[in-house]
Amino acid sequence: MFDLVIKNGTVVSPESSKKIDIGIKDGKISVLDQLGDSVEAKEVIDATGKHILPGVIDAHMHVEAPFQGCFGANDFYTQSVSAAFGGVTTIMDFTNTFPGNSVITQFEERKDEMSKSALDYSIHCKFVEAPERILQEIPKLIDMGSPSFKMFMTYRKEGVMSDDETLLKVFKLAKEYGGLPLLHAESNAIAESNIEECVASNSLGWQSFASSKPVLCETEAVSRATLFSEYCGNAVLFVHTTNKPSLDIARRAQECGLPVYVETCPHYLTLFDDMYASEERGHLAICSPPLRTPKEAKELWDGLRDGTICVTGSDDCTYSIKEKEMFLERDAQGKIIPDFRKIVNGLSGCEIRLPVLLSEGVAKGRISINRLVELTSTNVAKLSGCYPQKGCLAPGSDADITIVDLSRKWVLSPEQLHNNIDYCLHDGLELTGAVDTTIARGSIVVQGKDFLGKRDSGRFIKRSIAESVLTNHAF
Ligand code: URP
Ligand code: ZN
Ligand code: ZN
Ligand code: ZN
Repeated sequence: MFDLVIKNGTVVSPESSKKIDIGIKDGKISVLDQLGDSVEAKEVIDATGKHILPGVIDAHMHVEAPFQGCFGANDFYTQSVSAAFGGVTTIMDFTNTFPGNSVITQFEERKDEMSKSALDYSIHCKFVEAPERILQEIPKLIDMGSPSFKMFMTYRKEGVMSDDETLLKVFKLAKEYGGLPLLHAESNAIAESNIEECVASNSLGWQSFASSKPVLCETEAVSRATLFSEYCGNAVLFVHTTNKPSLDIARRAQECGLPVYVETCPHYLTLFDDMYASEERGHLAICSPPLRTPKEAKELWDGLRDGTICVTGSDDCTYSIKEKEMFLERDAQGKIIPDFRKIVNGLSGCEIRLPVLLSEGVAKGRISINRLVELTSTNVAKLSGCYPQKGCLAPGSDADITIVDLSRKWVLSPEQLHNNIDYCLHDGLELTGAVDTTIARGSIVVQGKDFLGKRDSGRFIKRSIAESVLTNHAF
């Protein structure tokens, strides 16, 4: 007797798409087979015409995170609801580390904050400095199930930048104990000197924000950190990568077998820097790195296809209009006086990641549905170290399952989303492909328009990254 059976759907893996049934018991996948009409189950989902994917993992988001004077529009419960509507079954966020903090203390605090999630969750550790007492925490954090270490190569003025010495020290210990540094790669020197020039020339509009952090600002940091990782022998993941020069650096390292991995995000594939031309709305699109051009987006799609980019994440950082505007000044007519330094960086994206990749990727023929599974789930699980518990549909794996309808057409708008804000940068985008049902550890959490999940029902997922992923370029 199964708890749940999913019948008549097409089960998608990185390697194949097969018409096969799934039997679920005690939150785990028990059987993948033709189960016949006489199968006994407490509940049956008829997935005729639908595709069944391993639950989407979003390993990159910032929720309940104090940043640039803001805190974000969601808590971990509302974020998990929004995520589930986007087919996500596991979320990962970062410790809120600031100078002087113990990362272990921050990790424990984060575990507590994330426990209100309706979905399983895990935590990356953020490092902003590397005194001995912090470095000693690294092996303990790995034992506690958090072997991934986020570092910002910029945001010095915000007090969260890791300098080169910090990067090197963390890289060496990651190599020694089995950790994966995740890097926000932007050259602080290039960004800060450009911002100073913008201030001097009073060019503080939204377009100046984008030009203060050009492609090479990112590529310089990718290049430096790639060489550091080659020098230390550790694996590294470049998050939210936006451009070909940066991919070229990573590809050259990958071709030598080095464990250099690259993530990109849906907004860099589908939104462009022309958004900054709008005085009224351009500030809502401020994120780091900035949005680029259609040329860069095309090159990212190439990177998703040729394997240089192996994972996607949302980098969800959902701020209300009020938060985006809270530090801006206005003129006598109430019009915003542009100053990009006063706008918190970050876009919403967790709920739209899968639908946008289904539509702009699969429906438009840019990637196969099998590649989409790698980019949204399987590779994310392998790289973050929770595979095969997560990231695949196989006997013994957690029954985290996303059922999608590849043919459903709909239009993105704020009303369609559950992300606690009243704007959507993709407003009006026509999509082909939609989430039908989301199942987290065997429980249906989203069915059509209904949320059926429960607050506090997510569990902390301990992770451990395979040696093969850490020592050689693995996928
Ligand atoms: O603009 C962004 N990406 N905000 C979120 C924090 C980060 O840099 O990842
Ligand atoms: Zn970042
Ligand atoms: Zn981020
Ligand atoms: Zn590869």
